[in-house]
Amino acid sequence: MSATILDGKALAQRIQAELAVEVADFIENNGVVPCLTAVLVGHNPASEVYVRNKRNACGRLGIDGRLERLPAEATADELLALVTRLNKDEDVHGILVQLPLPSTIDPARILQAVSPLKDVDCFHPENVGRLVQGRPRFLPCTPHGVQQLLLRNGVQIAGSRVVILGRSDIVGKPLANMLLQRGAGADATVTVCHTRTKDLAEVTREADILIAAIGQPRFVTANMVKPGAVVIDVGMNRDDSGLCGDVDYDAVREVAGMITPVPGGVGPLTITMLLENTLTAARLQQT
Ligand code: GUN
Repeated sequence: MSATILDGKALAQRIQAELAVEVADFIENNGVVPCLTAVLVGHNPASEVYVRNKRNACGRLGIDGRLERLPAEATADELLALVTRLNKDEDVHGILVQLPLPSTIDPARILQAVSPLKDVDCFHPENVGRLVQGRPRFLPCTPHGVQQLLLRNGVQIAGSRVVILGRSDIVGKPLANMLLQRGAGADATVTVCHTRTKDLAEVTREADILIAAIGQPRFVTANMVKPGAVVIDVGMNRDDSGLCGDVDYDAVREVAGMITPVPGGVGPLTITMLLENTLTAARLQQT
């Protein structure tokens, strides 16, 4: 039997409708419009698309979505100066430095310069530390999107075996941390796999929930999936046939119980969680 499709686009629209009400209330009560400023260095085509989508989503919700550009040749010091200016700007509540940065700039140096109160990506070491300790200020956008997709589709997370493919700072590591915390939407038994994992298919076949975030087109094949498992595909790869995920969708959907499509799965939720974090940041800055 074919898997149930987890429709991230429809869920994102529902959550964004809820957020739009909260944004309108916030504006009415505070006389302040939440503002997200994206910083884009250079002209990476994928980053251009992501940033445009984020700004369009801001507009739909009544959030002020701004863009600051620097040329590809900009130095780390120039970028730091821009971040410092945005940190001080009281009209700007959230700052997002779009990754990847040009190879000449160390991202860690830039990301730790963003004010922790404006760090809507949840990349600052202070916010990562708080997340690990189970007292988050912000939840990182893609992991939070995955968690909402599971929760709002009634997937049993507590006690489940979750296997995450990929140990990135943006998805794998923070998602593992979130799902093993105590409480709603968590309490899972989590395994993180990576390039050095032995007997990978044996590990992934143990998963009640299998999450792929490795950036390898169609890497997860049907023989890696336990029948009835929930399969979440965070991948966003381009190959000759267009956009595809990290999961061999057509084959895996015949084995899985639930599966996310690419596009239209996790992606729309990532943007939605960024909007939520912008509202959270604006609230935190009303003293
Ligand atoms: N590039 C790819 N994903 C992300 C993300 O979540 N945040 C930022 N800032 N850049 C990215």
